[in-house]
Amino acid sequence: MCGIIGYAGKNQAAPFILDGLAKLEYRGYDSAGVAVVGSDGNLAIEKCKGRLQVLKDKTQGGELIKGSVGIGHTRWATHGEPSDINAHPHISMNGKVALVHNGIIENYIDLKKTLSENGYEFKSDTDTEVVADILDFYYKGNPLETIQKVIKMLRGSYTLVIIFEGITDRIYSVRKNTPLIAGLGKTGNFVASDIAALVSHTKDMYLLEDDEIAEVSSEKINIYDINLNPIKKDIFKVDWDINSAEKEGYDHFMLKEIHEQPRAVRDTISSRIDENNEIILDNINLDYDYLKDVDRVYILGCGSAYYVGTAAKYAIEKSCGIPVEVDLASEFRYRFGENIRKMNPNFKGAKRESRVNKNTLVILISQSGETADTIAALREVKKYGARTLSIVNVVGSTIARESDDVIYTRAGQEVAVATTKALTSQLSVVFLLAEYMARKMGFVPDADLLDALKKIPEQIEELNKSEGKIKSYAERFKAAEVAFFLGRGIDYPVALEGALKLKETAYIHAEAYAAGELKHGPISLIEDGTLVIAVATQDDLYEKMISNIQEVKSRGAQVLIITNEGNDSAEEAGDIVYYVPKTHQLLTPLLSVIPLQQFGYYSAVMRGCDVDKPRNLAKSVVVE
Ligand code: F6R
Repeated sequence: MCGIIGYAGKNQAAPFILDGLAKLEYRGYDSAGVAVVGSDGNLAIEKCKGRLQVLKDKTQGGELIKGSVGIGHTRWATHGEPSDINAHPHISMNGKVALVHNGIIENYIDLKKTLSENGYEFKSDTDTEVVADILDFYYKGNPLETIQKVIKMLRGSYTLVIIFEGITDRIYSVRKNTPLIAGLGKTGNFVASDIAALVSHTKDMYLLEDDEIAEVSSEKINIYDINLNPIKKDIFKVDWDINSAEKEGYDHFMLKEIHEQPRAVRDTISSRIDENNEIILDNINLDYDYLKDVDRVYILGCGSAYYVGTAAKYAIEKSCGIPVEVDLASEFRYRFGENIRKMNPNFKGAKRESRVNKNTLVILISQSGETADTIAALREVKKYGARTLSIVNVVGSTIARESDDVIYTRAGQEVAVATTKALTSQLSVVFLLAEYMARKMGFVPDADLLDALKKIPEQIEELNKSEGKIKSYAERFKAAEVAFFLGRGIDYPVALEGALKLKETAYIHAEAYAAGELKHGPISLIEDGTLVIAVATQDDLYEKMISNIQEVKSRGAQVLIITNEGNDSAEEAGDIVYYVPKTHQLLTPLLSVIPLQQFGYYSAVMRGCDVDKPRNLAKSVVVE
């Protein structure tokens, strides 16, 4: 969501902060702001609606705001439209406290009422300004005690970075349900919502937990728990560098990341398959003794991660025979847990347990590891004793830290808002995991699957080389306002992902259907010229897909078919056929999704859309 950063050091804060915000702009980009404490102890703020560049121009790259401690923010609006006034930082009415905020304060209306009764007036429509004022209200000269008092009053999610009038050498920060990182630098120390903002300055970081408060000066970082007891934390060493945050000659991060997929998938799988085709997932605890009692697997995620879960369902059910339920984390968290009816204590028959218990394996999929709904679902199932395994890209993120086991994808930093390389890395992990579980449970190893998986990186490279074809299809269909994506079996999640890529990047209304569903309603929308993209890679479902394609074709649709090399009969059914290399039937999503990513990308470019930062979207969704 929003990107936030704070600096306390020996140099001028504002230029540093603007530089850090540039690395965070993918988290929110409707307005930006910076505030510093001047050497006279006064707070100075500059903020404005629009991209970060507007703020840079206004402040001459930060040179116009002097002070060596400061805070900055790039916003993704929740409360109040994007505007100069609603932009962060927010300063309290009496000018004593300024802060930036990531998250949502759910009880801000009640707090606002109390403040109004005490004479406070508000300039903005935000929930954040209320926090500045409530800090101001209780502030009697001791920042730590004030923060401690105020966070006990806040409900919702927040990372706050706070500066106080008259305190010229330090900043304060605290988190609840959204990320906060503190970095140890040479000429100063920092906090940020994201490692990316700091990695060009330091690799030594502290990962803060909920309710921990960081007091950051140029000399040191003190961390306290909610009772203000000092905490000693291990330094977390970041093992990636800033190159991933540069475009390296590509027009957009999205294109760069599409091209990085061979490397990302290779890095994710290579150390996990040995020369004898044994799967090495040593650090996860899924042995036979545990798996024999697992009666259900839940897979939870949001957006594209949920689609990966849908593909994983096919893989795990087919490989291990365990029933798998895939759910949107945002739905699951409220469908489950406290909402389940209690057993009547006097009932004489067999007692039914919660659907989630120690025999339930819950797999959580998340690129960022910070998605609010996925974190909430994770915390919910843990209460009931489920084993949790996460598949996460960002090392040290909340989901990774709080799960029993974690398998990291090794996609590297993903900057474009629309996911590509994280998704294919996640897919490669779920296929590996399904095979691993099957073997542990006594099923005959599928050696072909691993041989095929090892070939995937070079096959993706081949598909990247022929992206010119997809570019020409994007040109041909660039005026389309609607598109339908169809698939059956494991092609269905690919269709879902293809539709999401097109709608989020090119703003084309795209819908995905399991092809068997067409006749149950959606086919009435097909008319002359409607664009239909059909994914047909599954041998046992191929003929049924061809029949579905004929049905839309005969109603005037223009059909692009994505199928396996060798399926020449598709030429008669569709207007255009795009062939992907042959692979193991379970692994086809790893290849068929590539042309759909390219199609989304080139359609967006041709329609003049802001590819890397689509309107209204942010990279990690840390609010509900
Ligand atoms: C779409 C996309 C989103 C994310 C979703 C979950 O291109 O990127 O749908 O997949 O917001 O995010 P993570 O994986 O960070 O939990």
